[in-house]
Amino acid sequence: MCGIIGCVTRSRDIVPVLIEGLKRVEYRGYDSAGIAAIERGGELGIRKVEGKIDKLVALVDEHPIEGPTGVGHTRWATHGVPSELNAHPQTDATGKIALVHNGIVENYNALRRSLEAKGYAFRSETDTEVLANLISENYDGNLEAAVQAAFAGVQGAYGIAVICADEPGKLVGARNGSPLVVGIGADAYYVASDVAALVRHTRDVVYLDDLEMVVATPDGFSTTTLENEDITKDIEKVTWNIDMIEKNGFPHFMLKEIFEQERTVQDAMRGRLIAAAGDAILGGLRDHRRALQNAERIIIIACGTSWHSALIGEYMIEDLGRISVEVEYASEFRYRNPVINPGDIAIVISQSGETLDTLAAMTEAQRRGATVIGIVNVVGSTIARQSDGGVYTHAGLEIGVASTKAFTSQLTVLAAMALMLGRSRDISVTEGRQIVRAMEAIPGQIAEILSRHESIKDIGTRYARHTNFLYLGRGYNFPVALEGALKLKEISYIHAEGYPAAEMKHGPIALIDERMPVVVIAPQDAFYEKILSNMQEVKARGGRIIAITSEGDDQVEKMADDVIEIPRTLPHLTPILSVIPLQLLAYHMAVERDCHVDQPRNLAKSVTVE
Ligand code: F6R
Repeated sequence: MCGIIGCVTRSRDIVPVLIEGLKRVEYRGYDSAGIAAIERGGELGIRKVEGKIDKLVALVDEHPIEGPTGVGHTRWATHGVPSELNAHPQTDATGKIALVHNGIVENYNALRRSLEAKGYAFRSETDTEVLANLISENYDGNLEAAVQAAFAGVQGAYGIAVICADEPGKLVGARNGSPLVVGIGADAYYVASDVAALVRHTRDVVYLDDLEMVVATPDGFSTTTLENEDITKDIEKVTWNIDMIEKNGFPHFMLKEIFEQERTVQDAMRGRLIAAAGDAILGGLRDHRRALQNAERIIIIACGTSWHSALIGEYMIEDLGRISVEVEYASEFRYRNPVINPGDIAIVISQSGETLDTLAAMTEAQRRGATVIGIVNVVGSTIARQSDGGVYTHAGLEIGVASTKAFTSQLTVLAAMALMLGRSRDISVTEGRQIVRAMEAIPGQIAEILSRHESIKDIGTRYARHTNFLYLGRGYNFPVALEGALKLKEISYIHAEGYPAAEMKHGPIALIDERMPVVVIAPQDAFYEKILSNMQEVKARGGRIIAITSEGDDQVEKMADDVIEIPRTLPHLTPILSVIPLQLLAYHMAVERDCHVDQPRNLAKSVTVE
């Protein structure tokens, strides 16, 4: 969703830093962009556009601004349509204070009315302009004091960066429910909503927590609570390198990330499998291993693609760990009246670690007494920090809006967790060793699938003009069918449905004819014979089949129109392999249809609003 960057230096022009920072957070999704800088004459220069950053760059080229202190923003519309007027930075009525803001102010109407009663007039439809004027109303020559006073009355989620022309060498940031990180550079200080915006300039960062703020000047920075109590924060090292935020020769981040999976799956299991003991050790769960073993029930909570890995996790943990598991959409869980029994464990899965529904659901689970374990990708993210224990997936920065490598890393961590639970219950050391060996073989098997890229591309290109697809799978591959369908619809805008194959005859079969390609995930597992029958049902109605099947399977080959083979592995690990051809199919259909693969319309990388 929206992205924030702010920078203060002694004398360097920071406009290029702001633009570059905004480009780095483009992947989060946005529909307008803008920057503000305090120019050397002491005036606030502002440039904003509706649309993409290239348009902002053109505007700044035509009408340059420059100065050593500034803020920038990419906006994903919530209050008010995408437009130049609603784009951030928003300024106060005096035109001296410029504010960028992520999140939503819940008491925006009340605040706006009270300011209007004091004579303030508003140009935009945004809650951000209300905040800018609220700061202005409280301003008495000290920006941080004005921010503290203003936000005492604000309800809702925010991450902000603000500057004031009357204090040209000062940058103030604050957060509550929306991430904000402080970057410590050689000759500059930064604030950003996402480490990607500042990693080119520094790897030393401080993560703000809720209700905390930072004041940065060219001479240093200080952190306090929003109630002005001093706090000392640890400086942490970002482990990413710049390659992670470049495409490295790939045409899109999504393709690069699909190809990274050989390594990222390896990273997700690195140091966590013990071959001799046929077991797994997850450091972040050390304090919770007994609670997990004794749990009567585990609830896994997530959204979107992470919810699909939760479904696979359910099967894995029930199969291997023999613990009853329920999977919940975070958006439903948070507003239901869920039953949490003593000893229940909630696992939350999130790539970004910032998804608002997941965060709210986890807070609710914690409030009701559950221990919450996070499976999170982004280090230092809110969900990671709020969990009682957790496991990082170590997939590295995922930039393509459609999640790929984060999914397979989540599955790898879930498989390790299921193994760990299984070993403390029913799984023998011999079986455990066999599982470890199978897991260790997965990265090489991913490489094998990726080596078939050209033939998968050919299939994707040939089918790209169809307008409806059905995805079918059974057992472990039912959630993979859901994930394959989600990948296709989100990046190619083709309608696609995922179903458990046996459910087809309870309705969706009515849709099947020669214009409805059916993607069937049919590895040789316990459901193999059954899924062959489902394929017969499709063929009998003239449907075209693209099958994902085990290497050397000639039965499926006879029935399917197109076949993509995957190497053989244990059933619970199959999804890590079977999803990869589906990611590639979706990618190539989207490319063939000329879609904006990395930033599909209407989607945001991290959904920080309801
Ligand atoms: C789909 C996708 C989304 C996310 C969902 C949850 O490709 O990326 O469905 O999976 O928004 O996001 P996280 O995992 O960041 O909580």
